[in-house]
Amino acid sequence: MPPVSRRTILIVGGVGGLTALVGGAGLFWRDTRSLLPGGADGSRAIPGADDLIQPEVLRSDAGVLRVRLSSVEAAVRIGGRDATVLAYNGSLPGPTLALRPGDRLEVALENGLGAMTNLHVHGMHVSPTGNGDNVLLAIESGDTFDYAYDLPADHPPGIYWYHPHHHQTTADQVAAGLYGAIIVEDPEPIAVTRERVLVISDLSLDSAGRVAPASARDRMLGREGELVLVNGQLAPTLSARPGERERWRVVNACSSRYLSLRLDGQSLQLLGMDSGRSAEPEPVDEVRLAPGNRADLLVDAESGSSVLRTNPVDRGSMPGMMGSPTATGADLAVFEVAGDPVDAPPPVPRQSTPRDLRDEEVTGRREITLAMGMGGGMGGMSFTIDGRVFDPDRVDTRVALGAVEEWTLVNSSPMDHPFHLHVWPMQVVEYPGASIDQPIWRDVVNLPARSRVKVRIPFEDFTGTSVYHCHILDHEDLGMMGVIDTQ
Ligand code: C2O
Ligand code: CU
Ligand code: CU
Repeated sequence: MPPVSRRTILIVGGVGGLTALVGGAGLFWRDTRSLLPGGADGSRAIPGADDLIQPEVLRSDAGVLRVRLSSVEAAVRIGGRDATVLAYNGSLPGPTLALRPGDRLEVALENGLGAMTNLHVHGMHVSPTGNGDNVLLAIESGDTFDYAYDLPADHPPGIYWYHPHHHQTTADQVAAGLYGAIIVEDPEPIAVTRERVLVISDLSLDSAGRVAPASARDRMLGREGELVLVNGQLAPTLSARPGERERWRVVNACSSRYLSLRLDGQSLQLLGMDSGRSAEPEPVDEVRLAPGNRADLLVDAESGSSVLRTNPVDRGSMPGMMGSPTATGADLAVFEVAGDPVDAPPPVPRQSTPRDLRDEEVTGRREITLAMGMGGGMGGMSFTIDGRVFDPDRVDTRVALGAVEEWTLVNSSPMDHPFHLHVWPMQVVEYPGASIDQPIWRDVVNLPARSRVKVRIPFEDFTGTSVYHCHILDHEDLGMMGVIDTQ
């Protein structure tokens, strides 16, 4: 693997180093062979191994996309079993929203949950005020709220996503199934044979097929579902012919699980992560996605059957006797490449060179510390930013519009925390164990246990109140979130 990929993986995934690639077993599938054709007739002996289904795509027209998203309880089939989840418009995941830079997105969010909810467009560079990307709103059960988002004409292309963000119920609602993808199209199309969205999520079902509640310990560690799904499906199949090039837009929609994706036997190239895009696709063996991160991947299909799997990720330790937060591995899908070879599509056009804030003046510096301490709520541990738990009525950080700030993100705890800032993307300029030779833009940056990471942020285009937080959504709900006001 070229060093450039190694560096990317470190930043992407972000534990302090590459973990050993031991085989982890998912709950249902004992080893990778169980996902490959078993019988002489090519049949598979496991339930649920259907073709991967794409969520419905709702595309903007003449600069506008108007959608209705109803948050509802829904009956679905998962791995051949009946399950009751929460879903947008009853579909798991919700529809994919496809936009162009400069578009307006209007969402009528209908709350049919019997509990408060709201909506966040994760990673989007849009206004956080009024009926925009305002996560401090709470939409009552039975109400419909009209959100509107105006994308700037230079909004970065990429894969984004939407999910609820109501404090103290975010993890429960996301883990129960409320999420969907947002695509911001490239200004110049990239030639591929087919595009797919892969929304990866996890959940645990009880014997009645209902989403199992998380224990206090699960919340402190960051819950991991027993089933890891792709587009709401357990172990689906993706089929292609040799020579075809696929584009996979992958979302880590798990509420707390880290992913370390491999597709052995195939060649993967990373086009970008979050809103960050490399000038040229980078060959990668493994892609680390902290909760909330996305990867834009190219797969050049070669004959054979390969398993898309996530390997275990070491994300530090938990003080006391509460267990290990290591993310477990699982087999996610089968990629079957067979048939007559086809000619490969033309090469990917060179992408525009990303902005590099290392060449710009920094107008302010600050330090933000994520910590865990004994004696918080739930009879256990507190999860704080700068020593405090979230208070929507307190402004923690004030920034002037137009500032270019350098933030030192300190993780004083023994466990990793993925740091996420709304509205403004962050350029990673210092990362433990990595020498950074090109601009790396992310909206979720993993902070390894007991480490310091430096990012630079251009506070441009929008004023108003927004938030930053740990994207282990259980930690966010426990209070690891702060309010930022830009004026
Ligand atoms: Cu994906 Cu503040 O969230
Ligand atoms: Cu977000
Ligand atoms: Cu955390």
